[in-house]
Amino acid sequence: MYTRVPRSLIERLKHVPVAYRAALGARRLIGTVRPPRTVPGVPGRVHPNDTMIDGFDATSGQRYTATGEATVDQLLALAQDQLGPGAATARWLELGCGYGRLMRQLVQRVPSERVVGADIDAQGVRFCEAELGVTGIVCDRPPDELELPTADVLFAVSVISHLDADLVDAVLRLVVRTVAPGGIAVLSTHGPSTLAHLEGYGPSWPALHDELAADLACQGWAHRTYTGLGRAYGLTWHDPEFLLARIRTLAGDALADVEVHRRGLEAHQDLYVLRFAPEPRPAT
Ligand SMILES: C[S@@+](CC[C@H](N)C(=O)[O-])C[C@H]1O[C@@H](n2cnc3c(N)ncnc32)[C@H](O)[C@@H]1O
Repeated sequence: MYTRVPRSLIERLKHVPVAYRAALGARRLIGTVRPPRTVPGVPGRVHPNDTMIDGFDATSGQRYTATGEATVDQLLALAQDQLGPGAATARWLELGCGYGRLMRQLVQRVPSERVVGADIDAQGVRFCEAELGVTGIVCDRPPDELELPTADVLFAVSVISHLDADLVDAVLRLVVRTVAPGGIAVLSTHGPSTLAHLEGYGPSWPALHDELAADLACQGWAHRTYTGLGRAYGLTWHDPEFLLARIRTLAGDALADVEVHRRGLEAHQDLYVLRFAPEPRPAT
């Protein structure tokens, strides 16, 4: 039987980092030995370690599917707008594919041979390969040392929204060298307006409001690691002016245009759309 640990217990455990880390490790281990399962409303099986789903009941399944469908519809529309007829043969890459919340929707609309899923979580990557037929790549070294297959459409949903500033820069450089000329990249992160609802991220976050707002105002980004995790992974906010400038600087001439859709992802995270310049025509 699958059970979910009550959130109140998780929050109490976070105050004892050693115990919290041990509990996370145990939970992941248990998820590793349990088989994937079907969840009402979800196409394909769900991995027990998929943290993007709240539970295995029908309501959780429907929410997981609805958000995935809506985001993939949005990505397809952006790809069509950028690539025109070329969208029909576009090479897709999801950076931070997890356990396939979005991939399982994408492969219903795009042949899986044209879809690559990459993640630091090898288990998630292998699951996506086995269940969805996509090509998987484990990001087993820092982003600056990685080479990914060239993509016409790259998306990283809810990825830089968890990383510190150095890693965000490295991921942006990886994105820039992975997207083909004329292609498109779509990234999401938390914008300033979400600071007004920090309770949605867990009970310990509202107390950080003032310091996060101050960081955002003076450096353009704010990041705090998840309690007790012991690595550079947590929650990150970006001021759009700062991140747009950072993207323009790191992409240079490769970029034709970049825009931000505030709260453009599920009316929550800001969505950044990077449109890459077409290949320069050879001089005649
Ligand atoms: C919040 S989950 C989002 C998963 C998926 N994009 C979705 O929206 O359902 C973030 C994912 O990013 C992955 N991730 C974090 N840092 C990464 C990095 N440097 N390179 C690739 N994946 C990364 C995590 O392992 C995790 O699977």
